Amino acid sequence: MLRVVVLVSGGGTNLQAIIDAVSSGTITNTEIVGVISNNKNAYALERAAKHGIKNVCISPKDFASRAEFNEALLDTVNQFEADLLVLAGFLVVIPEKMIESYRNRIINIHPSLIPSFCGTGFYGLKVHEAALEKGVKVVGATVHFVDEGTDTGAIIMQKAVGVQKGDTPEILQRRVMEQAEWIILPQAIDLIANDKLEIIDGKVWIK
Ligand code: GAR
Repeated sequence: MLRVVVLVSGGGTNLQAIIDAVSSGTITNTEIVGVISNNKNAYALERAAKHGIKNVCISPKDFASRAEFNEALLDTVNQFEADLLVLAGFLVVIPEKMIESYRNRIINIHPSLIPSFCGTGFYGLKVHEAALEKGVKVVGATVHFVDEGTDTGAIIMQKAVGVQKGDTPEILQRRVMEQAEWIILPQAIDLIANDKLEIIDGKVWIK
């Protein structure tokens, strides 16, 4: 069984998609052993509680320094003895020590087709605002491994979504979630849980 910890900051619709996929058997061989939020008001924590999943808030506000927060975050993650960390809308820069400890064992969902609309400052609704501002006609989502850069790790899966006339950032965000994020994030976890991925020269392939 793959022991998964999901890290969240907000609404947790991607967390919900993972919970549902485990329940329905779309994701096999996997147990969600914990949910960690940096924000005590995150609805994602309630979603976890409703499903009987251990959940904890580690907020930077409760620590004197970033270094102390980073230490506490890593300690908490380690206590869950996780095989895989899933960043599902987790808007905290992952400490380098955590990236080293969990090399190729942290994945992130990003709401664009990387390398478009990614990197520092591109998160949540801002990604969709930028895509509409540019006038692109195809957007989407990416699941990737997390390395030391921002959205630079090896790409695992991507799914494209069309932009429609009249889209607002909110409408586009919802379509990208429904048609891409909630599908490819569970798929990527299932592939990892069943040892179906391989990394060749830093690129990820399905075996
Ligand atoms: C999702 O759209 C996710 O892709 C995005 O935050 C949202 C979280 O929604 N993540 C990023 O922008 C990371 N750079 P959720 O809490 O409902 O899953």
